[in-house]
Amino acid sequence: MVQFHWRIPMHGDKSDIGASRATRGDWTPLQPGNQAPGVRDDHGDGIPYHEHIIEVAKAIEIAGFDGALIPSFPHTDDPWVAAAAIARETRTFRTMIAFQPAWMNPVYAAKAAASLQRLSGGRLLFNIITGGGGPAQLWWGDRIDHDDRYRRTTEFLEVFKGIWNGGPFSYQGKFFQVENAGLPEPLAGQVWPEFYFAGSSDAALEAQGKHADFNLTHLEPIEQLRVKFDRVKELASKEGRIVKPAVRFNIFARQTEEEAWSEIRRAWANVDWPAFEGRYGRMRGDAVGSILPAHLKPGPDKRLEDLKHGAFWGGFLPLGDPPALGVVGSYQQAAEAIDSLIDIGVEGFILAGTPHLEEALRVGEEVIPLVRGGTHLTQLAAE
Ligand SMILES: Cc1cc2nc3c(=O)[nH]c(=O)nc-3n(C[C@H](O)[C@H](O)[C@H](O)COP(=O)(O)O)c2cc1C
Repeated sequence: MVQFHWRIPMHGDKSDIGASRATRGDWTPLQPGNQAPGVRDDHGDGIPYHEHIIEVAKAIEIAGFDGALIPSFPHTDDPWVAAAAIARETRTFRTMIAFQPAWMNPVYAAKAAASLQRLSGGRLLFNIITGGGGPAQLWWGDRIDHDDRYRRTTEFLEVFKGIWNGGPFSYQGKFFQVENAGLPEPLAGQVWPEFYFAGSSDAALEAQGKHADFNLTHLEPIEQLRVKFDRVKELASKEGRIVKPAVRFNIFARQTEEEAWSEIRRAWANVDWPAFEGRYGRMRGDAVGSILPAHLKPGPDKRLEDLKHGAFWGGFLPLGDPPALGVVGSYQQAAEAIDSLIDIGVEGFILAGTPHLEEALRVGEEVIPLVRGGTHLTQLAAE
């Protein structure tokens, strides 16, 4: 069964795709008009941003999604804390914590994960991220190079798995060593949390072959994805395992194609190109995967139409909503774009749209029911 997830806007949320700042959220300066938290008498109103993300999570659940990715960056709140808060306010919603193995000892991470499974009734899953190098990695105090980071991730997951059902478990790795470790009752043997795993380099795919349930990639042209998914399959089969393909992208869909593009055109007219180049021109790291063809690179010299690639559009980054490639069109066209990805084997989707609450309801109500002519929902009902 294909999984459909949305995204929790840990990075702030705009009220409109064309807005220049996030008014739902507190990581841009608080100003009148901000929501959750907002401003009252020149002071913050004391409402935590978590109130907003819980409302978004409830909308995601009502819209019929399986759950949502909770991303983690230096400027965001901690996703474990957000997951615990969301789990208490939802019933079926699965929280997908983005997590870099360098951030926590594997025994402690397994303990926290097992606690969350107990608290949520088994609704936790992970997006294992291994970091993109450069200044962002140094920010965490992490100087280890690209391929060694994936070795560390592999060791981490070996310890995490080794102790999940109890113990004693001993392990002598380069990065982690434990002796007679294990999760005690009543934490041992909770529902196993599925692992999405981001990364497209050879080192990433090798690690995924050993431990991932899903290979998670940003959207790329179909021809590029086919090559990547074949490689994922090949490396996983060497380990006697199956790793399912999953894709993350934004959707901007309306009743008609014209309606969708006219809103995108309005937002495009507001792009602040110097700010865009300042923000993304500075990014330096060692991430290998998800490189788009040069003609899809947005810039002030490009028209919105230049960034169309089949059913996909490469202009989401200048609108402040990465990743670059996503889907714009009618509800029917958006469903067909999803169908085209299911046709090449995709079994997990992480979708998003701005504003996250309203667009979750829209995509859940108008697009997902059209996927594969509605057969996805028929299968769900039969289960
Ligand atoms: C879909 C997706 C989501 C990601 N989410 C995060 C995140 O929340 N936080 C983060 O620091 N990095 C995130 N990353 C970046 C990864 O940590 C890593 O830099 C990237 O996958 C590079 O891998 P590669 O060199 O193997 O291709 C994400 C990557 C992808 C593809």
